[in-house]
Amino acid sequence: MLCLGIETSCDETAFALVENGRRLIASKLVSQTEVHRAFGGVVPEVAARRHLEAFNPLLDELLLEASGVLALPASEVLSAVSAIACTNGPGLIGTLLVGLAGAKAMAWALDKPLLTVDHIQAHVCANYIGTELEPPFIALVVSGGHTQIMHFKSYKEFEIVGQTIDDASGEAYDKVARILGLGYPGGPAVDRLASQGNPQAYSFPEGQVPGYDFSFSGLKTAVMRTVENPRSGLVAADVAASFQDAVNRVLFRKTVQCAKAYGVDRIVLAGGVAANSDLRSRFEKLALAEGFKIFRPPIALCTDNAAMVASAAFFSGNEADLSVGAYSRR
Ligand code: KG4
Ligand code: ZN
Repeated sequence: MLCLGIETSCDETAFALVENGRRLIASKLVSQTEVHRAFGGVVPEVAARRHLEAFNPLLDELLLEASGVLALPASEVLSAVSAIACTNGPGLIGTLLVGLAGAKAMAWALDKPLLTVDHIQAHVCANYIGTELEPPFIALVVSGGHTQIMHFKSYKEFEIVGQTIDDASGEAYDKVARILGLGYPGGPAVDRLASQGNPQAYSFPEGQVPGYDFSFSGLKTAVMRTVENPRSGLVAADVAASFQDAVNRVLFRKTVQCAKAYGVDRIVLAGGVAANSDLRSRFEKLALAEGFKIFRPPIALCTDNAAMVASAAFFSGNEADLSVGAYSRR
């Protein structure tokens, strides 16, 4: 099954072709980061318009790239596609609708099935690409909008075991980056700066939430207070490193606890924050020390992309009719 994936849930327009959920044939993406940087965050209406402008030219680029791999003329690639897959939530409603309308038009014109995909499940499915990962596993999904521990019993069946009760972990990274004047998007900037700082310099509190849930809003406030009223000279790299340590410590501890409690030896990382170098290295060390099998996508498949959408369509997509809508929250 050759799936065309379409992703427009936030500020990345992306197309990809994936065969049988695992083999990446071609992938194209345009990021709007530069457009939104001046505003310090994504402006939904601007993002939707940009998706609309990017849609057709980017699709043409994808078909050209795929034609080389499939040894077909670009004009015949779409006929070789088995299904059109699209994220229909959660995300920004205006941007989702651009991708979904495009997907519906293509499904109708080509007379192919339309498969809708949940964005969070798609992040997890990025781990199937180029690997032999199979359920059961525990997934830690950490993105700009979500922080969840999920137990995947099978490809389609999962339960949310824990989640944030306030800010998402990526949101915390972005807010702390803003407090430190590192600009947007914040996660990669904090990651870079933290590598030069001392994670023990400041003791920022972990949110005290029972079970496998998380809280990051108190941590953000603690960072703000420290930056506003430094007891001595402020070293931004130390603040970044101490903040990153507080976030990653709790993400790591609860995920491992959960895997042990569920008797699962496979742990999967997903979402933009799974690109964080310190978080990745914590799990890599665990794999060596305790024999867990750790899966984490290459950096380009951690943040939003369409390959994960095409993969998710294969493993857990829902066949939809042309009246299907988009949703901003699950
Ligand atoms: O999954 P994603 O691309 O979009 C959402 O679905 O939200 O995640 C974006 C989030 C942003 O908050 C960004 O700051 C964060 O992922 N991020 C990182 C890193 N790279 C991206 N956070 C920490 N360290 C990174 N290296
Ligand atoms: Zn995402």
